[in-house]
Amino acid sequence: MSQNLIKPATIFTAKPPPICYFLFFIILCILGFYALHFPPRIPQNAALYRQMFLSSGDNYTLYSYLRALTQHPHLAGTKPSLDTANYVKTHFQTLGLETHVVPFKALLSYPLHASVALHFRNGTELKLPLNEVGISGYAVSGLVQPYHAYSPSGSAHAKVVFVNYGREEDYRALAVRGVDVNGCIVIARKGDDLGRGAVVEIAEAKGALAVLIYAEGDRSRGGFGTGVERGTVMRGVGDPQSPGWPGIEDGEKLGLQESEVLSRFPRIPSLPLPFETAQIILESLGGGLMPQEWRDSGQSRFSGVGPGPVMLNFTYQGEKKLATIYNVFAVIRGSEEPDRYVLLGNHRDAWTYGAVDPNSGTSALLDIARRYALLMRKGWNPRRTIVLCSWDAEEFGMIGSTEWVEQNLINLGAKAVAYLNVDCAVQGPGFFVGATPQLDNLIFEVTKKIKDPDSEGATVYEKWTTINGVKNIQRLNSVDSDFVPFLQHAGVPSVDIYYGSDFPVYHTAFDSFDWMINNADPFFHRHLAVTGIWGLLALHLADDSILPFNYHSYADQLKEYKDVLSSFVDNSISIALLTASIEELYSAAKQAEDEAKRLMEQEAAATSIILKMRALNDRLLLAEKGFLDPEGLKGRQWFKHLVYGPCNNHESKLVFFPGIADSIQESTRMSTGDEQKAIQHEIWKVARAIQRAAGALRGELS
Ligand SMILES: *[C@@H]1O[C@H](CO)[C@@H](O)[C@H](O)[C@H]1NC(C)=O
Ligand SMILES: *[C@@H]1O[C@H](CO)[C@@H](O)[C@H](O)[C@H]1NC(C)=O
Ligand SMILES: *[C@@H]1O[C@H](CO)[C@@H](O)[C@H](O)[C@H]1NC(C)=O
Repeated sequence: MSQNLIKPATIFTAKPPPICYFLFFIILCILGFYALHFPPRIPQNAALYRQMFLSSGDNYTLYSYLRALTQHPHLAGTKPSLDTANYVKTHFQTLGLETHVVPFKALLSYPLHASVALHFRNGTELKLPLNEVGISGYAVSGLVQPYHAYSPSGSAHAKVVFVNYGREEDYRALAVRGVDVNGCIVIARKGDDLGRGAVVEIAEAKGALAVLIYAEGDRSRGGFGTGVERGTVMRGVGDPQSPGWPGIEDGEKLGLQESEVLSRFPRIPSLPLPFETAQIILESLGGGLMPQEWRDSGQSRFSGVGPGPVMLNFTYQGEKKLATIYNVFAVIRGSEEPDRYVLLGNHRDAWTYGAVDPNSGTSALLDIARRYALLMRKGWNPRRTIVLCSWDAEEFGMIGSTEWVEQNLINLGAKAVAYLNVDCAVQGPGFFVGATPQLDNLIFEVTKKIKDPDSEGATVYEKWTTINGVKNIQRLNSVDSDFVPFLQHAGVPSVDIYYGSDFPVYHTAFDSFDWMINNADPFFHRHLAVTGIWGLLALHLADDSILPFNYHSYADQLKEYKDVLSSFVDNSISIALLTASIEELYSAAKQAEDEAKRLMEQEAAATSIILKMRALNDRLLLAEKGFLDPEGLKGRQWFKHLVYGPCNNHESKLVFFPGIADSIQESTRMSTGDEQKAIQHEIWKVARAIQRAAGALRGELS
């Protein structure tokens, strides 16, 4: 380059012919024209653009997006759902963003008919309501009747047993009273410990014929107790007919009768019940006396757990069918590292109107698109590529995101910087966040920049840390939103953000725009806060020259896990090997941190420095992959992450190291020698995973 610059000057040392002056004049004119019409781009000043992003927040746009998205119920696979896909697509396109749609063909599940009736001994039949009280004309409005997706069709005429929350310990309490659920229909209340799928799975194992589940909700808030909680009971995530690979139109599909597909569905049917209907059934129960503990926790009106004496006639018919689902994307190409991706994702499909779940998050996504487009018009281009993702069919089992991650596994595994998920963005008051630990510091820094929606003059960080007293960042071990395929399958560092928790209208017909403005966010200030945090996190991840990852926090977290674990195993099991691998991670984290500091102090424009930064960033990005095991977790091989993932055993007390947790739980069924060996093997596996992470972070071959 520098040589070429010298040459023109030497031409003019000889006396040029007049034509040269003319040409020179023409060139000047052309240059002048360009200078006027294409002014030099404002130098990339990330801090300036972050400020611009923060000042462009608008509660009115958030309000209007949510209102538009929640006009009609939009269950995945239906026409109104396709309309929302088009709404999001048009929004991205209108902003001038590069937009595309990726469809998949997946097996979804819908109800056809359901009935539940009590048959009294005097011959009277009492048909019980199954729909939401106060909601009429399901067909007209397009609301789906309450059901459990992927429940098999079936009927049962049998006595009923109340099983409390449906946990193993609840069945043990029943067994003590001589109550057996084999051949009975069970009724359970929804608790915090078990998902509805697990409640059905355990009941099935006990020999129950059918399962009824009701939610107690928050009775104090009034008016919404009559809602009925829809939901999926499918096991695992993603399209059941294309397990582990993308379910594209003409791709391979397993047959519905193949054992791998059948293993994803319960074998006994189930239904959600309105609270009032559940009360009528509970009132009819005699039989064994209800345990005092259960009565103390809200069941004091009832004395018996059954079985019977009244018979219950249960019928459910549903259909499973292939449907096209649509993921919608907007891509903002990175200017310097276009092959590094920062992904922001939210699902769009809803059981009903979806004002909280998930479209409070969709409105935030759309507003981030609006604000980023604004920044682009002011000259901003992110350093790395930003991808805005609008997922379909999350409610059926994270299907849209899972199929896409399976389709893009290699690119995501090697090049995705982070996945930032927002599902139910606004459920009520209080800031909540879950994340992989290397992102903790960034979350603290970003929440210090965002105004708290509920207290004047405070930041989200201040309110969050004073209310709870601690900076409580949850971990992403649960299987309940679209971060699952990214983190637990592909090993992409992930975040999940929301305001409020446990909202009473969850998955009911009352999750509407009206409920949102009357209860959760009248002025859309909480929406504004989530949007700010989400968008600012992404700006740092996309623009910071060195990725804002801190593996010291990861090592701290693993150390804490190790300490908890030590209280679950006896002395014959060695956890010292975990200690050693965690020390390795600490030292690699320190090394990376020092290196980052050194690089930041140098002139960033030099090519050699840019390459060094890129190399360091690659190590920061790859370290999370160390926690993956290509073999996956035992019995659920799709889940590859050895620190965060689901436990097979529903009674497990550990919410991390799922492989170790399961081996501890299973050990009660084995002879002592084998039990020790199995636990020790799982601990070795985790220790090696931590070593892999440390090795990737160090970036040196052994
Ligand atoms: C039958 O028994 C039920 C429950 O005890 C009662 O509500 C109903 O009125 C009875 N019907 C007749 C016809 O006696
Ligand atoms: C149970 O209900 C189904 C569906 O309403 C009905 O077809 C069936 O005859 C009933 N069974 C009994 C024993 O009443
Ligand atoms: C936006 O916030 C302002 C200030 O609190 C409030 O007056 C206004 O009603 C809000 N707009 C919407 C659409 O909620």
